[in-house]
Amino acid sequence: MHPYIRISCFGLIAGCARAALDIIPGATWTATNTGQHVQAHGAGLIEEDGTYYLIGEEKTNGALFQAVNCYSSTNLIEWTFVNQLLTVTDEEGADLGPNRIVERPKIIKNDNTGQYVMWMHIDSTDYRDARVGVATGDSVCGEYVYQESFRPLGFQSRDIGLFKDDDGSAYLLTEDREYGTRIIQLTDDYLDVANVTFGWEYFAESPALIKRGETYFIFGSHLTGWSPNDNIYSTATSLSGPWTDWIEFAPVGSNTFTSQVNYVLPLGTDKAIYMGDRWVSTNLGASTYIWLPLEIDGTTATASLEWYDSWSVDLAAGTWTAGSDGTAYEGEDGELSGGARTINCSRCSGAVAAGYIGGSGDGENEGVVELEVDSADTARVTLNIKYLNGDTSPRYAAVSVNDGEAQTVAFVSTSHLGGSVGSTAVHVDLVQGVNTIRIFGVEGGGWGPDVDQVVVPL
Ligand SMILES: *[C@@H]1O[C@H](CO)[C@@H](O)[C@H](O)[C@H]1NC(C)=O
Ligand SMILES: *[C@@H]1O[C@H](CO)[C@@H](O)[C@H](O)[C@H]1NC(C)=O
Repeated sequence: MHPYIRISCFGLIAGCARAALDIIPGATWTATNTGQHVQAHGAGLIEEDGTYYLIGEEKTNGALFQAVNCYSSTNLIEWTFVNQLLTVTDEEGADLGPNRIVERPKIIKNDNTGQYVMWMHIDSTDYRDARVGVATGDSVCGEYVYQESFRPLGFQSRDIGLFKDDDGSAYLLTEDREYGTRIIQLTDDYLDVANVTFGWEYFAESPALIKRGETYFIFGSHLTGWSPNDNIYSTATSLSGPWTDWIEFAPVGSNTFTSQVNYVLPLGTDKAIYMGDRWVSTNLGASTYIWLPLEIDGTTATASLEWYDSWSVDLAAGTWTAGSDGTAYEGEDGELSGGARTINCSRCSGAVAAGYIGGSGDGENEGVVELEVDSADTARVTLNIKYLNGDTSPRYAAVSVNDGEAQTVAFVSTSHLGGSVGSTAVHVDLVQGVNTIRIFGVEGGGWGPDVDQVVVPL
């Protein structure tokens, strides 16, 4: 450790220019306190006093309802598991009972009642119930009481979103497979629906709505099941329309960078963050999150999305920055010990990787990879570990820097990627100069991932 350099960094802010951590879209994101990939699929967000709460679906065991999870973060990057807001009850046939569909939970706060109100899609496995469910809580990620489900104004309702306007009025965005997509105003207590604000005889699944300047933007996807498509948006200066024709916002043919919109988060006063799910239909718990800065302009009423391998966000300033290419260190070039060795991997860089990391857990075959990496600054940064995990279940590895405390990092399955490597994001403290990154087995054993590269931001 180099405490002197660390202290001088804190004393000299300009020397810590790379303090921002990166969002790596599509990577495995390990929660800070579970050692597991974040399970908040089809999520919504709510911010309170500078803390962001990510509320989404647990999908570890597939499509059927397991839990609505809440995670918190102050930087949108390091997520701490807080609570399960709703869990499976043992009552057969009940909305939250066994073998049910509970999707796309969204929470807004009612400033008059002080209540947090969650709306979600409630369904049977054949999707014939097509209802919305409502739950309420006294604190954002505390205990929630499930209230009821119904068809809003009698209409079928599958994918939903929620929108709270500046004046406190709130709206359900709902897709009706017999009609199209509607904006339905909620009652003043947010517990029920009041009236239809606008309807499209056009299907925009997974609707998400934000206002930038005087313009409302609604985003949605086409109907292609778990497969991604070119998502679309429409704009208006009033929620009751007229709305423009739906058009794509990501490069046509990119299938929205292989994702489906789940939420659009306002950033500062005039920007926004696109949040999409990259569903892995055969292994839903391995689905990742495609979060990207959205180029959005409330004056020209336009939105467009570009790809960044990594990017950072300054929530206080309401700005974002593209990530650097970084320096890639090859796993196989590290010091391999304890049984770790170079393996062939046709789609890895150089067609080889470091394999046999971790192992039995009894001290034998505890494969270790150690890499010496350079850092220009003393800073907390996000490493991108490019890896392979051919299992269906996640693999895990311990990662430490300069013999500091190790963190458990998850690596979800890459078996659906046809041999291509996946990414996992690891947030670490580097010192200026040379750092030793050690990747080894977790307590309890089991093989870690095959490590192709460790990318260190510049
Ligand atoms: C729709 O419902 C809201 C909330 O109850 C109410 O304030 C509004 O006046 C209603 N709009 C129409 C057109 O009925
Ligand atoms: C790895 O690839 C090399 C070069 O093609 C080959 O000689 C070697 O036998 C391979 N090793 C294994 C374990 O397949």
